[in-house]
Amino acid sequence: MEVPVKTFSGCDVPVVGLGTWKLRGEICETTVRKAVGLGYRHIDTAAFYQNESRVGDAISHFDRERLFITTKVWKDKLEYSDFMASAERSLDRLGLDRVDLLLIHWPNPDVPLEETISAMNDLVDEGKVSHIGVSNFEDDEQLDLARELSDYPIVNDQVEYHVGKDRSELLDYCRNKGVGLTAYSPLAQGGVLDQKVTNDLADKYGKSPGQVALKWLVEQENVIAIPKASSEDHLRENLNLFDWEMEEEDLSTLEEVSL
Ligand SMILES: NC(=O)c1ccc[n+]([C@@H]2O[C@H](COP(=O)([O-])OP(=O)(O)OC[C@H]3O[C@@H](n4cnc5c(N)ncnc54)[C@H](OP(=O)(O)O)[C@@H]3O)[C@@H](O)[C@H]2O)c1
Repeated sequence: MEVPVKTFSGCDVPVVGLGTWKLRGEICETTVRKAVGLGYRHIDTAAFYQNESRVGDAISHFDRERLFITTKVWKDKLEYSDFMASAERSLDRLGLDRVDLLLIHWPNPDVPLEETISAMNDLVDEGKVSHIGVSNFEDDEQLDLARELSDYPIVNDQVEYHVGKDRSELLDYCRNKGVGLTAYSPLAQGGVLDQKVTNDLADKYGKSPGQVALKWLVEQENVIAIPKASSEDHLRENLNLFDWEMEEEDLSTLEEVSL
């Protein structure tokens, strides 16, 4: 089954992507290649992950137009010329002439946001980036400023979000402003998998605790998720979220969990 998309300001984002933090070398390349072969279309990487070349090698075997590639510029490269150079190096390593989504990986209060946004806008004008967004922007003021400064929509904020983490305020903002919220560490790096509630619901639906935790995320308006997985079983499980339903009552129960 094809992974559905959610659309934010004209940017169609497949609602499940493959996170690649800590995937390096040969394992990164084979995992990404396997994932795309299984049906993943959305890959999340970053200059900081030191794996863009491997991601690039893996995706070179597939139709570029079907893929949605996100990368990020690290917080020590947010001045205009540093940012431009970092984005160019990412493109080079990925073997692409354009990424679908480029994010500021982490805010840096020492660099005026205007400078960074100006670089991002120029990259869009040059056709090297289709859409722009941010990551680890935690409050309305930061997001408001980014949106005000940019000629192009800030389509996405990538933040930590999983069962047991309350994001209701940020989500309200994102829904009101048409910004997508990408849930990183959507399995809390394994922390949600041994919870009684995810295990009970997994039994009820005949799914795994990981699938329950991811289903809860992708059912939410404006939310997409980028679980990292390296085993083939996990890769498959994390895609199989769309041909079954969870009852409202169970989704609400997950809402109340605190880890
Ligand atoms: N923007 C940021 O600052 C930021 C920060 C952190 C993460 N991220 C992004 O978010 C991605 C995901 O977050 P994460 O890597 O921190 O952790 P995560 O996705 O919450 O958890 C990954 C762990 O869960 C396991 N797993 C995956 N699917 C599973 C399943 N169905 N059942 C049981 N276990 C499963 C994986 O095992 P195996 O590998 O053995 O399959 C791995 O150990 C990152 O890779 C990165 O792309 C972004």
